[in-house]
Amino acid sequence: GGADQKGPVFLKEPTNRIDFSNSTGAEIECKASGNPMPEIIWIRSDGTAVGDVPGLRQISSDGKLVFPPFRAEDYRQEVHAQVYACLARNQFGSIISRDVHVRAVVQQFYESEVNNEYVIRGNAAVLKCSIPSFVADFVQVVSWQDEEGQLYGSLGDQQGTDGKYLVLPSGELHIREVGPEDGYKSYQCRTKHRLTGETRLSATKGRLVITEPVGSVSPQLSGNGNQEHITLTRVPKMGSVTLMCPAQAYPVPFFRWYKFIEGTTRKQAVVLNDRVKQVSGTLIIKDAVVEDSGKYLCVVNNSVGGESVETVLTVTAPLSAKIDPPTQTVDFGRPAVFTCQYTGNPIKTVSWMKDGKAIGHSEPVLRIESVKKEDKGMYQCFVRNDQESAEASAELKLGG
Ligand SMILES: *[C@@H]1O[C@H](CO)[C@@H](O)[C@H](O)[C@H]1NC(C)=O
Ligand SMILES: *[C@@H]1O[C@H](CO)[C@@H](O)[C@H](O)[C@H]1NC(C)=O
Repeated sequence: GGADQKGPVFLKEPTNRIDFSNSTGAEIECKASGNPMPEIIWIRSDGTAVGDVPGLRQISSDGKLVFPPFRAEDYRQEVHAQVYACLARNQFGSIISRDVHVRAVVQQFYESEVNNEYVIRGNAAVLKCSIPSFVADFVQVVSWQDEEGQLYGSLGDQQGTDGKYLVLPSGELHIREVGPEDGYKSYQCRTKHRLTGETRLSATKGRLVITEPVGSVSPQLSGNGNQEHITLTRVPKMGSVTLMCPAQAYPVPFFRWYKFIEGTTRKQAVVLNDRVKQVSGTLIIKDAVVEDSGKYLCVVNNSVGGESVETVLTVTAPLSAKIDPPTQTVDFGRPAVFTCQYTGNPIKTVSWMKDGKAIGHSEPVLRIESVKKEDKGMYQCFVRNDQESAEASAELKLGG
């Protein structure tokens, strides 16, 4: 074979997640180069090839995986909620793309609700917009309003954190230092569906029910009853995140946030600044960085008692991988080394494949002590976490 002959390399690899509406359908592209030109095959995560399903799934002549728009009654789980990958192959080897989680969403009527919140005078209140779980992945709060039509925008609107009202990055309406007058308003949330673009006002209005304490009340955590007070929170890098400390007390309590030093039981007070703010008991981190990941502790005290809440924050960064060197030509009997260089957070596993088959190696460095004829081909390293995966490929050619 000539020197310009080479195994497949992806030019265009699909993304990890593809969500689409039954009314729009979707087309997923996968392109590879190589010499000779590789063929593209779509497979499931078990490696079996995917075929046409009339009206629901087609492979176009240029290798796209096509999901046409479909009626609600034609939804099929094994077609419309499936993990796919694309495989590119020519005579020099095969490579497989990252996992592609495809999810079709049938437009369905939904209503969100706002319920009344009980709050002790002087404490902060948090009104929640309850979104049904079957749409929760696609719907988010865009604003709040009271019955007079007064709008409360989101943190993204450059609204400060000093005012009485604040829409948290997670969508709740935060109201500080609640007084008796706050019991007269009622609030609705407005949500937006990211696939259809439709916005909708909550079906119910919620108001604050202000209670007057009789004597002292030690801090009480609301919400998760007597479960362990550990919350897991995930946010993409550069996103905004809210860590909640939902406690009320009388006299009004003090809240202090700490972060554990990784791998120890020692903790340090969280440093507040332009990026990291505390509003009553709520900690708001803007433009999150991977280093913000870790275990946080909120301690809330007043003169009669105390409580604490833990939150584990994971700031994610997109995964990517590269193999060094991308090609190498090694003589029979000589060693070959490939190094997988990767970035992103969190990284749970590293694995290797040769020509689309797992080789049971999970270290970043792959070493072949003495290259044999059957070692030539395409090598790939994959990095994964629960949500995402990324891959890189490299070619091993045999020398003289
Ligand atoms: C998608 O589903 C909705 C809800 O059942 C339906 O109204 C709509 O017509 C469907 N779209 C297509 C293209 O059939
Ligand atoms: C505050 O509450 C915590 C948690 O209950 C408790 O361990 C701590 O001693 C209290 N601190 C003060 C100063 O009362």
